[in-house]
Amino acid sequence: MNILILGSGGREHALAWKIAASPLTAKLYCAPGNAGIAREAECVALDIADHAAVIAFCKQAKIDFVVVGPEGPLCAGIVDDLEAAGIKAFGPTKWAARLEGSKGFTKDLCKANKIPTAAYERFKGAAAAKEYVRKQGAPIVVKADGLAAGKGVVVASTVAEAEAAIDMMFDGGLGTPAWEIVIEDCMVGEEASFFALCDGDTAIQLASAQDHKRVGDGDTGPNTGGMGAYTPAPIMTPDMNKRVMDEIIFPTVNALKKAGAPFKGVLFAGLMITKDGPQLIEYNVRFGDPETQVIMLRLMSDLLPALIASRDSQLKNFDLRLYPDAALTVVMAARGYPGNYNKGTSIDGLDDAAQVEGVEIFHAGTRRDGDHIVANGGRVLNVCARGNSVAQAQQRAYAAVDKIKWPDGFCRRDIGWQAIARERK
Ligand code: AMP
Ligand code: GLY
Repeated sequence: MNILILGSGGREHALAWKIAASPLTAKLYCAPGNAGIAREAECVALDIADHAAVIAFCKQAKIDFVVVGPEGPLCAGIVDDLEAAGIKAFGPTKWAARLEGSKGFTKDLCKANKIPTAAYERFKGAAAAKEYVRKQGAPIVVKADGLAAGKGVVVASTVAEAEAAIDMMFDGGLGTPAWEIVIEDCMVGEEASFFALCDGDTAIQLASAQDHKRVGDGDTGPNTGGMGAYTPAPIMTPDMNKRVMDEIIFPTVNALKKAGAPFKGVLFAGLMITKDGPQLIEYNVRFGDPETQVIMLRLMSDLLPALIASRDSQLKNFDLRLYPDAALTVVMAARGYPGNYNKGTSIDGLDDAAQVEGVEIFHAGTRRDGDHIVANGGRVLNVCARGNSVAQAQQRAYAAVDKIKWPDGFCRRDIGWQAIARERK
């Protein structure tokens, strides 16, 4: 089959690495891709927001199946448009993608189907929102509806902080003024990410993971797109995984099917594991980045048939196997990230680093400049490793990091600390 992957980050590199290894793959393309992806796939300079251009390329290159990485095109309806043009695609329709695109939609769906999540109210104006916050007290969580690249959430520890967040969101502090906000109770527990493959009728568990959002060691400093991750999340025992499938994933798949918008694709549940069990923080409708990079290292089965089964509603008896190992990734970012940083700085030692046992390096934001790989974004490399424990995967990943010569890059030195502390116990 001829396959096209849409996207250009570490997530898409990991997907390309896995799909390129499938015996079903005849020719693999990625649009727009990056310098690392170019080792696995032919990169195509397409604007993936231009659905007509993507469709024209698919017809010309005789693409049999499209795998969509990021949420932007999914929420913009690229799967609907591809399928309408007769091209099979992996991922949810625009309607089903509202699970990520609209927090209000998801919260209402949870309430109507008794899916455990924080109690909440939706507001279209600041006055009523502030009155609610004063009534509820702090800590309390304020969220803007719509995609906000992870910046639309304020966990307020005082009423004054919550009121300021409400004003900021309605006044356009996130770029455009929020048309609606959701205010919800603050949950207490340990966070974990959970991934399931869905086919509209049913779902199968993929894996759990945990990521590190803060830029600095000890989980300090500003939030980022993620500075590292590992899988599995030690808190996700077999019993907890089953509870998540039974209490959160299956009810969601059933509710969307009943509503006439069956969900196909990856359901990525952000969870808070509280003393009362798993609670949903939010849904994403796509593979996580950088969680996918580590999950692909543990996946024993061929990924491509699973993605096709998701599209074709054939997951019912599908058996997806993972290695029992752990995997961990350290994100290397350009100095200054998540603030201002330079592009175009030179990176050496990548081949040497990739020789470390169990290591795989995925590119998140790179470009080829003659013989050199140069940085082309904030988060630039995902140095990943498999091991028999998170501790061993961490040791291998940092051994590889230390062979990379990139004076303009940095990384956290403590990725996996929570899991490793648990392993020691
Ligand atoms: P989200 O973008 O919804 O994933 O939220 C970003 C982060 O805010 C989450 O990863 C949590 O750390 C935190 N958060 C969101 N909602 C809540 C909540 N109801 N209670 C506690 N923390 C939350
Ligand atoms: N790692 C979080 C995300 O992909 O949204």
